[in-house]
Amino acid sequence: CGIVGYVGAQSALDVVIAGLKRLEYRGYDSAGVAVLADGSLAAAKKAGKLVNLEKELVAHPLPAGSTGLGHTRWATHGGPTDVNAHPHLDNSGRVAVVHNGIIENFAALRAELAERGHRLESETDTEVVAHLLAEQFSATGDLAEAMRQVCRRLEGAFTLVAVHADEPDVVVGARRNSPLVVGVGEGENFLASDVAAFIAHTRSAIELGQDQVVELRREGVTVTNFDGSVASVRAYHVDWDASAAEKGGYDYFMLKEIAEQPKAVADTLLGRIDGSGSLSLDEVRIPVSVLREVDKVVIVACGTAYHAGMIAKLAIEHWTRIPCETELASEFRYRDPILDQRTLVVAISQSGETMDTLMALRHAREQGAKVLAICNTNGSTIPRESDAVLYTHAGPEVAVASTKAFLTQLVACYLVALYLGQVRGTKWGDEIEAVIRELSDIAAAVDTVLETMEPVRELARSLADKDTVLFLGRHVGYPVALEGALKLKELAYMHAEGFAAGELKHGPIALIEKDLPVVVVVPSPRGRSVLHDKIVSNIQEIRARGARTIVIAEEGDEAVVPYADHLIRIPATPTLLQPLVATVPLQVFACELATARGNEVDQPRNLAKSVTVE
Ligand code: G6P
Repeated sequence: CGIVGYVGAQSALDVVIAGLKRLEYRGYDSAGVAVLADGSLAAAKKAGKLVNLEKELVAHPLPAGSTGLGHTRWATHGGPTDVNAHPHLDNSGRVAVVHNGIIENFAALRAELAERGHRLESETDTEVVAHLLAEQFSATGDLAEAMRQVCRRLEGAFTLVAVHADEPDVVVGARRNSPLVVGVGEGENFLASDVAAFIAHTRSAIELGQDQVVELRREGVTVTNFDGSVASVRAYHVDWDASAAEKGGYDYFMLKEIAEQPKAVADTLLGRIDGSGSLSLDEVRIPVSVLREVDKVVIVACGTAYHAGMIAKLAIEHWTRIPCETELASEFRYRDPILDQRTLVVAISQSGETMDTLMALRHAREQGAKVLAICNTNGSTIPRESDAVLYTHAGPEVAVASTKAFLTQLVACYLVALYLGQVRGTKWGDEIEAVIRELSDIAAAVDTVLETMEPVRELARSLADKDTVLFLGRHVGYPVALEGALKLKELAYMHAEGFAAGELKHGPIALIEKDLPVVVVVPSPRGRSVLHDKIVSNIQEIRARGARTIVIAEEGDEAVVPYADHLIRIPATPTLLQPLVATVPLQVFACELATARGNEVDQPRNLAKSVTVE
């Protein structure tokens, strides 16, 4: 979500709307604003893109005021409706709050507020904050103090901005996790999720740290910690131009989205593993009794999501012992698949709008199968038409080539596989527990990979004039090889193919010639050592025929060293989780090659982010 706050001499509404336009890339399923004018608070909000809100403001103008806030939403709790749009007000209509993130204990807080006589109107977690702030403000008469007290009661990740009609020249913000930046002007100050929102007014900024509250007045900014102590802050000068600012300083959205992967992975796990190390997937509303009876799982998806599905098949079969097949959504219904009430169909889609996937799930439901969607876009068609949905929390993905959505799809697939294993109780109980524990370190492992990517970029640039790159892998490495090849096709427009390494000798080996770059994804030597040894032999076979080998192998795997012309190290992970770290260098590789070849990275030719035709 995108957030803006303003206090100063200009029209708050104009500043806020202009800021929201710069933040629309963060989500655009609904938008809203609130301004303080003449001792009262006026607000407007509308489902759909910002332009809907602008039309609403023309039809029903708000009074002019110089303190205000706004929000452009990317729905998590509650679908994208007018009521669920931000800002949220308390019952007196004097407090307005906008929010980015997830308040995990909102259900308990909501129940508590209802008991004290509050009427809550939306399905969002945010509304509870407006009511709690109103209560604390009545007790303290100080919005910043009220915010600190409320924040100490909230669990989860949240960034909040609020105004109160009784403090007409104050905007208060709070940050835990999701970013919040102060823009420091002369006689005016700004708050936003990203500097893009205020760069037209000031280039002087302060980034808020974790668990800090900021009080914004015309003449100054005060930052405190949640406990009330004075916080030390870092002021800096923003030297990006406005379009780079929208991309957080990166040249392309794709680079930004690659860099956001550790957070996307962590956010997708957030709240889904309880204190005792068990999974709590309340969203999977399919009753446990039904899940216990499932005798077949079918995964349908397209493009990158299909590759996530191929990896999910291995995880599901291993941890649950239920037969699972993964099928291209566009092929699925035309082969008259065998489905019944005991089949669980998992539809994976970033956008939730891919027509092939939608038609596949409709067909599955017509045959009586239960459908679970894994989706990144709240309120989109695929989750709406499914029996249940597990959302990935990657945040909006703008670049056409999918990166962070893929990693979070993998996380969601592992959660589904582990959950099915857990509810059905298989012989892998101990392993399931261990993997759940390891999942909490996986975001850090992705971060480690990102820190060591410079040699990969250098290698990519050196290959810019090549025509062909091949990718090999086995087991989970095979879909990773396919994904690496897809990324290269999409972005670099090169002939790129992924193969199962064992299949090499049955044909593709004829393609190998001197200096042909071949990327090999090597499985962990600890997990399935037979598989590891086989792929080391495959590397030798292609190298003997002149290939230039680019080997992706786990830290500490010394067996591959003699056969690797280029060695890319990834952290050790449990075998099935390896794609989360092994895919990242391939994304960086494709993006850098595309740049070196002068291609448009975010919007490659002929492609679309969401394909809504069959
Ligand atoms: C399009 C995109 C791909 C994406 C596929 C599936 O072809 O270009 O990047 O993987 O659709 O999209 P979905 O939104 O269903 O995950």
